[in-house]
Amino acid sequence: MTIVWCSNYEELSRKAAAIIASQIIIKPTSTIGFATGSTPIGLYANLVKKYQNKEISFANVKAFNLDEYITGSREVGWSFSSFMQTHLFSHVDIPEENTDIPNGVAEDLEVECARYSEALSEVPGGLDYQILGIGTNGHIGFVEPNEFYPLDTHIVDLAESSIIGQRPFFEDWSKIPTRALTVGIRPIMHAKQLLLIASGPEKSEILQKALFGVVTSKVPASILQLHKNLTVVADKEALADILANNPECSL
Ligand code: F6R
Repeated sequence: MTIVWCSNYEELSRKAAAIIASQIIIKPTSTIGFATGSTPIGLYANLVKKYQNKEISFANVKAFNLDEYITGSREVGWSFSSFMQTHLFSHVDIPEENTDIPNGVAEDLEVECARYSEALSEVPGGLDYQILGIGTNGHIGFVEPNEFYPLDTHIVDLAESSIIGQRPFFEDWSKIPTRALTVGIRPIMHAKQLLLIASGPEKSEILQKALFGVVTSKVPASILQLHKNLTVVADKEALADILANNPECSL
């Protein structure tokens, strides 16, 4: 595991974008797993800048997203699919047919889960890079704390802290969906490289538990310790507990 210490969110966003941009430059046909949420917004803004400066092209990139709300109908409006359009896809040259995300309004959600799991399993050698955030309860994607690790795409009832975590995106909190489709642990752990990003004091305690605590499905992100290519890019507030508990880590 490599931990990249950043002094603030701007630096985190720049460094995380540099990692993903390098991947795209080295392999223009990369398949990348994208995350949504507050943390990657700055990373995506930096990728858009790099695209505008002609440093990178997404023309041959393939994109898979981690998760999507189950909303019952498209009328509900806000979705992770629209998040990706707003923050990245509509600003770069990625062909629409190169992007995939679980369909939260599919008629048969179980069939949709099977379709998405199969699509991910067909990526040769696994995703080149998987971008991840972390929930305050340790979730990755929407793999919530549980007695076991779900392997493939499934329907999930969101934990209360996960619903609260979505408040920045909803004016009316009563409209936050309570169910989602999410990938399981298999495509994440099969990815060749993982980039975990975390920002702010509310991530500090869980980051310490996930990266240095016991590996347990009750802290889903703890399984990332077992991945051979994990890079964590985090700001000093998110790294505070790690630094406090590991006095040998000096900066
Ligand atoms: C979203 C996702 C979630 C978020 C996590 C952190 O696609 O996979 O696991 O990464 O909830 O969210 P933020 O960045 O909003 O703190």
